Amino acid sequence: MMENTRFKEDTDRVDGIQKVTGKAKYFAEYNLPGLTYGVLVTSTITKGKIVSLDTKAAEKAPGVIAVVSHLNKPSVPLYEQEGGSPMKIFYTDKIFFNGQPIAIVVANTFERATHAASLVKAVYEKEDFNTDLEKAMKDPKAKKLQGQANYTRGIADAYKTAEVKIEERYILPVETHNPMELHGIIADWKSADQVTVYAKTQGVKSTQNTIASVFKIPAKNIQVNSEFVGGAFGMALRTWPVEIAAIMASKHIGKPVKLVITRMQMFTMVGNRPAAIQKIGLGATKDGKLTGITHSAFGETASYENFTEGVVNMSKFMYQCDNVNTSYTIAPMDLSVPIWMRGPGEATGAFALESAIDEMAHALDMDPLEFRIKNDPEIDQQQNKPFSSKYIKEAYKLGADKIGWKNRKNKPGSIVEGPWQTGYGVSVGVFNASRGKATVKGILKANGTLVLQSATSDIGPGTGTGMTLIANKITGIPVSKIKFELGDSSLPQAPSQGGSATLSTVGSAVNDVCESLKSTIAEIAVSSNMPVDSNFTDVLKKNNLPAIEVTKESQGGKERDKYAMYSFSIHFVQVKVHQLTGVVKVTRIVSVGDSGTIVSPKTARSQMLGGAVGGIGMALTEEAVIDHRFGRYINNNFADYHVPVNADVPEIDVIFINKPDLLVNPMGAKGMGEIALIGFSAAVANAVFNATGKRIRTLPITPDKVLG
Ligand code: MOS
Repeated sequence: MMENTRFKEDTDRVDGIQKVTGKAKYFAEYNLPGLTYGVLVTSTITKGKIVSLDTKAAEKAPGVIAVVSHLNKPSVPLYEQEGGSPMKIFYTDKIFFNGQPIAIVVANTFERATHAASLVKAVYEKEDFNTDLEKAMKDPKAKKLQGQANYTRGIADAYKTAEVKIEERYILPVETHNPMELHGIIADWKSADQVTVYAKTQGVKSTQNTIASVFKIPAKNIQVNSEFVGGAFGMALRTWPVEIAAIMASKHIGKPVKLVITRMQMFTMVGNRPAAIQKIGLGATKDGKLTGITHSAFGETASYENFTEGVVNMSKFMYQCDNVNTSYTIAPMDLSVPIWMRGPGEATGAFALESAIDEMAHALDMDPLEFRIKNDPEIDQQQNKPFSSKYIKEAYKLGADKIGWKNRKNKPGSIVEGPWQTGYGVSVGVFNASRGKATVKGILKANGTLVLQSATSDIGPGTGTGMTLIANKITGIPVSKIKFELGDSSLPQAPSQGGSATLSTVGSAVNDVCESLKSTIAEIAVSSNMPVDSNFTDVLKKNNLPAIEVTKESQGGKERDKYAMYSFSIHFVQVKVHQLTGVVKVTRIVSVGDSGTIVSPKTARSQMLGGAVGGIGMALTEEAVIDHRFGRYINNNFADYHVPVNADVPEIDVIFINKPDLLVNPMGAKGMGEIALIGFSAAVANAVFNATGKRIRTLPITPDKVLG
């Protein structure tokens, strides 16, 4: 048997050809016999209730099979119970947000369903509402909830008495995920208690369990298929009310129903990164030692469900500081409920903290990199534990050399060429290096192929490629002969793809399966008088075994209690700011990942590139604008909600530390999905300050703010 000593660097994405040739099938492309099409009717008011709903014209329209609403919905056992969340779609006449689904029209074509949906007429009773977070914060009568327990280490608000202090407010707007693939589901009831769905989900098992609990049918009666996902970023980590609507409609008419929501509906039906207003106070000694960090965040949730995220987490451990206090408050708003979005919470918090760190360095007249290095912690002071691995100082150096940090001038506005001012910025990102529990089954066949199966997902990072490379490294079986199967709820248990944990969680089980297959083969070889390191195929053939199967469940052990485990990133950017128009161009990017062993170099690099591109959007363009008079999004389309395009993205250098952290998992690999984005927007804001002397604390950094 051949054994590699390192991961194959030149391996392409294993499903790349399928994806670029259109062979990869996404949920909406399944064309079932008798398929019907659902289109949602949505509320035009923000808060109140439906007084009457006239569906007659829609029902009579050509091709219409049914209109399902709160008036005629089929039985949904969970929704028949009193109280509880999530929102019980079509089981209430209450309106919680503008654009809330109030009916689904099903027809034999999408166009006919769309037309008929326009014929449904609702009469509402309106109530006063608030969609403005700033207004909720200022209003003493507005309901407020604690988002996370208050945290204090040492003296609270110690920054106030420091030799040097800063105290600033940082504001983030609502951002929406906007993957290319729209959200939706195809539901197909096979019998009264059996349903198959083709879904867009980050977790087939989670979708299966949600449907089981809503319809009170056994999970094993629900088949969830989601082999390919066209980008998700967190929005497909839960099963949304609109998916339940399609499943209800299919149950009602006894035919498969496909629902694909519109781009406009993507702004209200599948969550978003919630707006946040944060205050940071930092105190330091004159020679640049942090003596106090206070971080308070005010975020939003919906009136009908609570959502919280780790906005203030990073401030508790990222820098050496004996006095830290944080608080996080959420206000229920008359908006649809938020959800995690790449770097959930941390990306929001890092914008504030990493901007503030830059502001403090400036106040101290120190290089911001030097200031960070000076306050780099030896241990995680929050958990009072050592880090499992942390190569931040090395990462700073590699990134600084690559971007040419030495060309940066500490005095803002120093580099001017014609109308353009140039600046450099840096920021840190950090996220938990989590590892959950997963099961993988391996089937090694005498024809030399290895099939690995687990009910995980691939929303784009290249999960199949990573798993294949882990198996390849251990078994020596060529990449082309390994197949990793995912996205099917009938496969062995795996968690949803989220929180940068899939490679660590599922990869560890792949590792264990492959190690076990290897030792099983060695045992069979020895017992059949073959050399212990015989070729897998030879051993199986000689012993007349068509295949052997191994199933392993894997999870982290006690080391997870003893160490603080994080992935880190450092983002360096160079920007050019036009003095007359206020346009900001990101002209260079160097992102350094301290994320342990790099298992799949090509897809890992792509993961970092994607994070940087998302970071440009977060920094410069992305904002879901609400007209608070009407409680409605006004730029809910791709023309007005700007995500970066090729022209916005410069050459990006990605550097990996690539040192194993074997405390995290047997591959030594820490996650990467979140750190690719976390902190990036602060690096841009810091670079804009360095270029111009203008500090922008409200994202996105649009020309009006640069000039204003
Ligand atoms: Mo991510 S926000 O864990 O999909």
